[in-house]
Amino acid sequence: METNNEYRFLKACRGETTDVTPIWFMRQAGRYMKAYRDLKEKHTFLEMCHTPELAAEVTLQPLDVLGVDAAIIFADILLPLEPMGTGLEFAVGDGPVIPRPVKTEKDIDNLRPVNAKEQMGFVGDAIKIVRSEINGKIPLIGFAGAPFTLCSYMIEGGKSKEFKDTKMMMLERPDLWEKLMDKVCAVLIDYLKMQVDAGAQALQLFDSWVGCLSPYDYERLILPYTKRVIEGAQETGVPVINFSTGTSPMLNLVKQAGGDVISFDWRINLDDAWKTLGHDQPIQGNLDPSALMAPIPVIKERVFDIMQRAEGRPGHIFNLGHGIFQFTPVDHVKAVVDMVHEYRNA
Ligand code: CP3
Repeated sequence: METNNEYRFLKACRGETTDVTPIWFMRQAGRYMKAYRDLKEKHTFLEMCHTPELAAEVTLQPLDVLGVDAAIIFADILLPLEPMGTGLEFAVGDGPVIPRPVKTEKDIDNLRPVNAKEQMGFVGDAIKIVRSEINGKIPLIGFAGAPFTLCSYMIEGGKSKEFKDTKMMMLERPDLWEKLMDKVCAVLIDYLKMQVDAGAQALQLFDSWVGCLSPYDYERLILPYTKRVIEGAQETGVPVINFSTGTSPMLNLVKQAGGDVISFDWRINLDDAWKTLGHDQPIQGNLDPSALMAPIPVIKERVFDIMQRAEGRPGHIFNLGHGIFQFTPVDHVKAVVDMVHEYRNA
């Protein structure tokens, strides 16, 4: 059994040299796997999240099939919205729906504080089951949404293209935005700490949509709060991955928000991003998830390009720039794991 210190994923999070480059995938559990679709016939998505045995089962599904170097607990960034009081539903094919979105000061005042241990203990219980099942083979990652991405759903009431109401609250009512951020940051820090108490060995903060902002607004209205959550989470002592997409023009600011690892998408070459961040900064990325749909030789060319740009430096965790798509062939995902593990620098 590997000890915490020997896992190649955790070593890379600390910028240490590893035998081969560690790799895992965002959304490595989910609809592209038949085992997941079979379980989904019998349970709704939220049922699976709320039932620790099912969430643990889904977390484990891809591990042996793919041979990845980390597991990520099966849950959703939107789960804290339930105890906060906005409601949360997943309409078939439509993605998340928040029935009582937060639009006014009164809505913000009505948001309830959350005791993660008491109200979201099902996530902690799932983490405990997974830890005992993987029996030290690979580490387990916990996660939460970052303040901007979480609040974009909370305010818009679902997925959004323009983020109009979210941006309007930020720009017109910075006082309300601050009030909302204070509440949300407190919930997120408590939720992340609960996951580490339950056994999570690393944490990832998902800021999937923050790339829609200007660097000016990111710096003033988001960075301080993302930083607060990351620093709160780092008090646990486990590494924190700061993930975002569309942020390559402002990676210097993303770095200021902090995190032991910075995860970026495919819109920038890995070597350019690493140069901007500094080579002492551990990084994660950055294959375009679309590439996984292409024929194997096409995938290989892109995987090798990323590996070449990393130049075998310590502190690179291979991942996609965003989650696996629904219709991705499982054997392509597995092939990428092997390509990365078998890669040798010339
Ligand atoms: O990575 C993993 O394997 C862990 C599980 C995980 C899920 N969601 C499961 C899920 C993680 C880390 C998330 C994070 C998440 N959830 C994010 C941030 C990452 C990203 O993808 O940008 C966001 C924005 C959400 C919110 C969310 N949850 C959306 C927009 C959707 C619908 C997406 C879709 O493709 O329909 C979900 C549902 C969801 N979360 C599914 C899964 C496996 C699909 C549910 C299903 O229909 O089976």
